[in-house]
This record gives sequence, structure tokens and C-alpha cells, in this order.
Amino acid sequence: MKIAPGVIMYKISVIPGDGIGKEVMEATLHIMEAVDLNFDYEFTDAGDEYAAKSGIPLSEETIDIVRSSDSCLFGAAGESAADVIVKMRQELNLYANLRPVKSYPGTKSLFSNLDFVIVRENTEGMYSGIEEETEEGATATRIITRKASERISKFGFEYAVKTGRKTVTAVHKANVLKKTDGVFKESFYKIAQNYPQLKSNDFYVDATAMYFLTKPEIFDVIVTTNLFGDILSDEGAGLVGGLGLIPSANIGDKLGLFEPVHGSAPLLAGKGVANPSAMILSAALMLNYLDEVEEAKKIEKAVVKTLAEGKIVTRDMGGNASTMKMAKEVKKNLENL
Ligand code: NAI
Ligand code: MG
Repeated sequence: MKIAPGVIMYKISVIPGDGIGKEVMEATLHIMEAVDLNFDYEFTDAGDEYAAKSGIPLSEETIDIVRSSDSCLFGAAGESAADVIVKMRQELNLYANLRPVKSYPGTKSLFSNLDFVIVRENTEGMYSGIEEETEEGATATRIITRKASERISKFGFEYAVKTGRKTVTAVHKANVLKKTDGVFKESFYKIAQNYPQLKSNDFYVDATAMYFLTKPEIFDVIVTTNLFGDILSDEGAGLVGGLGLIPSANIGDKLGLFEPVHGSAPLLAGKGVANPSAMILSAALMLNYLDEVEEAKKIEKAVVKTLAEGKIVTRDMGGNASTMKMAKEVKKNLENL
């Protein structure tokens, strides 16, 4: 799909949020200027700073702005993250959280040639939000439904088909969480029957955590529940060189919200030293979602080139460039592809 110059094409809601969220967002929007598409940005606010002004971290108005856009770019929230990002995932039914784990040259990746994707169920599980104080302490309710488990499994298999991947692995703990993960595992294999061309298998989450360190190359597409996916994706980030590099997508049936896996990193905030790559690659995931695959590839290539050259990179990558300086380098590389 090609567009005439000057025609507004995509309506993108933008939530920079708190801390380094604002800095990596500014850097990313700078790079988006070099993308051969037109965007109509609608800026809105959420997070700790917004709560300090308004009394609430996330307003209905912001949710409506996101809902009526084609996609949302989200930076990070601070302490209010659960009331912002977790709430948006639930309210907007962004049920699939896609987190690629990819090793790039020039990074501190523990392995070369890693390329797998974690598909995390985003709406229920341990993060269903139901916690209660009891006389003895507190309890949390882990909700696993057939509907959400089948939906996330189908998403994983469809994603594998679309991106030419071969194996889909369910990660669970059905030997202990017999009922809840029993449902999850059963739902996964029910859906797997519709994809005989793909290999499907399953592992326990604790074994998976070890395999990430001992033989991560066995993974291709992982489908898992909310908390396990959260933990494994940070481990995945550690595998390939840190949180500054890992993008993510929250996808529903009508909308996608794209954000770095990292948070507001208060220790780095305000210093202009955060690595913008995770946010930039999140924008690339957004373009993929919008079926602008060529432009998405170009952004990724420009980031990869910048990292591989390793000269103008932020300090987490061993350099001393500022967030904006690295972004300018990525933009230059994008323009010269
Ligand atoms: P964090 O991801 O903000 O930072 C952890 C550490 O990772 C940082 O201290 C830094 O060393 C490194 N790091 C993260 N992003 C980086 C980047 N772009 N460049 C270079 N290094 C980077 O996680 P933390 O410290 O656990 O949480 C800080 C705040 O962020 C908390 O208030 C938390 O609630 C919030 N948070 C929000 C999330 C969201 O909005 N989606 C996700 C995770 C945490
Ligand atoms: Mg996390």
C-alpha cells in the first residue's frame, strides 16, 4: 500500500510518560521523520507525573484517544505502571504481548544468532489484579480461561505462520498449577491441531529459565501466561544485551500499543543517557503491525548498523553518546540505506 505525499495516513497516539520514557520517545519521533509515511500524532499523558498534576495516573480521555488511534506509542510509566500500562492492556483488550529476543552484532549479547519471540498472554493470569488481604497475609487470584488461552495460542501459531517460523512452544507449570496451567496446556494443544505444518511442544517454566541460559537456540515462538512471560522476557533481554534494546508490542483485534520492555529508569532519567533502541525498535514493530513491513525493516537495519559500528552509541552499549546523538546517528543511517 503506497500513499501520495502529503496525505495523512496513520493516526498514532503518543504517550511519552515518565522518566526516560519521554527521552526515548523524543528520540524515536525524530527518527520517524525519516520514514517514508505520514503520521498524525496525538500526544496524551499518563503516569506518575500526570498523576501528580491530575490526581489519577490514567484518564478515560487518554484511553479514548488511544482507542480511536490506529496504534499507540508508549514510553514508560514509573511507580504507576500497573495502573497505566497493565490497565490499558486490559481495558483495550490488548491480549497479546509480543517480545522479540534477537541478538545484534556490537551488543553484549551472550549468544550470537539468537532470534526468538515470546508471546505473552496479557489480560489475565497472575496479573488479573485480584489480590486480597487475609488474616494471615494476602492472596492473589490466578485466572486462566479457555477463551484467553486459546486466543493467545492462536495468536502465537498465526504469528509463526506469518513470519515463517517453525516451532511453537507452550511454557507453563502444569505439574504444580494443575488446574490453571492444565487449562492453558490443553488449550494450546487444541489450537495446535489446526497447524499440523508447525512443530508444537511444551516446557515447564523453570526448565525454560535454565534453557534460556544453556540452549536458547531451541526456541522459536514461545506462548506463555502473563507472569511467566513477564519474567522470561526480562531474562531474554538480559540474554541479548540489556533492557535498552528490547521492544514489545501489545496487540488486540483492532489496535496495537508499542513500548520498550524497560520502565522509566529513574536513575538514568533526566541525564540524556538512555538507549533509545528499544523504543525505536518498538516503532518498527508498530510499522510491521500496520503492514508497512519495508519501512519497519529499514528502521531495524538502521539501528543494527548503528549498534554494529558501535561508535555513536549510549553508555550501556559501551559508548558515550547521548540518547539524542544516538538517535541522530540512527536517522542518518536510515536516510543513507
Ligand atoms: P527499568 O526498566 O526502568 O530499569 C532497570 C535498569 O535497566 C535501569 O536501571 C538501567 O540500568 C537499565 N535500563 C532500562 N532501560 C534502559 C535504557 N533505555 N537504556 C539503558 N539502560 C536501561 O526497571 P525498574 O528499575 O525495575 O523500574 C523503574 C520504574 O519503571 C518503576 O517505577 C517501575 O514501576 C517502572 N516500570 C514501568 C514499566 C512500563 O511502563 N512498562 C515496565 C517496568 C518498570
Ligand atoms: Mg516486566
